[in-house]
Amino acid sequence: MQLLNVSHLKKYFKDIKAVDDISFTIEKGEILGLLGPNGAGKSTTISMLSTLIKPDDGVITYKGKDIVKSPQAIQGSLGYVPQEIALYPNLTGRENLEFWGRAYGLKGKKLNKQMKKVSGIIGITDRLKDKVSQYSGGMQRRLNIGAALLHEPELIIMDEPTVGIDPQSRKHILDTVLELNKEGMTVIYTSHYMEEVEYICNKVCIMDNGKIIANGTKKDLVNLIDDKKRILIKVDNVNDVLLKDIGNIQEVTDVSSEENTVIVTVSNGKATFKRIIEVLNNTEIGIRSIDINEPNLETVFLHLTGKALRD
Ligand SMILES: Nc1ncnc2c1ncn2[C@@H]1O[C@H](COP(=O)(O)OP(=O)(O)OP(=O)(O)O)[C@@H](O)[C@H]1O
Ligand SMILES: [Mg+2]
Repeated sequence: MQLLNVSHLKKYFKDIKAVDDISFTIEKGEILGLLGPNGAGKSTTISMLSTLIKPDDGVITYKGKDIVKSPQAIQGSLGYVPQEIALYPNLTGRENLEFWGRAYGLKGKKLNKQMKKVSGIIGITDRLKDKVSQYSGGMQRRLNIGAALLHEPELIIMDEPTVGIDPQSRKHILDTVLELNKEGMTVIYTSHYMEEVEYICNKVCIMDNGKIIANGTKKDLVNLIDDKKRILIKVDNVNDVLLKDIGNIQEVTDVSSEENTVIVTVSNGKATFKRIIEVLNNTEIGIRSIDINEPNLETVFLHLTGKALRD
């Protein structure tokens, strides 16, 4: 079932085209990754989905209902985890959850039950009595997520929930997202960490300069550049004959060298690999190591934009 449909969405700030005509959909039960560098337009997109700001143009529907015209069509079903931590540092963890629970309309037994459940999910039950100002960065991030889970939303939108935290908290958050998804929650997850998106998301939108420049499963995206597989061969010494012989292999699209490493770009991984080994065996040159660089989302991004995801 299609949950959210975004069509020709635009938001400009004077001459900055923060979101510049993007369209995508999310099905119930998916984890959609919104991947892009600083300033790509991720938070602006999410703010419009969460009805915090109005688009200049375009349509967003949730279960077929226009949420720009009727924000209440999504508000009760949505959990929004902002990029900036939205907690009261002088209140305890428990008090913060209570505040957010009430903001979402929970009270009494239901509120208590949900607070207990959520503190278990985010793993802070034993620190609920402490002031948030005494929490580590990772614990604050986890509580920030917990605040958005209290009303059991159908869709959770997380804006870079793992920025600046330790690896252990990061792992906890990622596994929590997977666990919530297993129980049926649909997730939009924003990040500029390619490895996080690869780990949890089954669909990815790559954003840059306000536009979605690629969209699909990880496999779809990697297939865009599958002809760009690179093989790095470290040898005792490189010579022109070797480069020429490798270059003559039909599926080799490019060959170059850097110090003692031969860099080969091939259009057909395995078969070509064998041919390269044959060429190497026919020379007297010693091989030290061979590395095959499988394309990943980082290389897709690099290929599409000409720049690295993190500068
Ligand atoms: N309220 C605003 N007023 C003016 N410009 C804005 C405003 N909000 C965002 N922008 C601009 O819009 C562009 C997109 O910003 P946005 O915050 O959506 O990017 P982002 O992908 O979330 O980046 P980051 O990874 O740094 O959080 C940027 O150039 C930003 O400066
Ligand atoms: Mg942002």
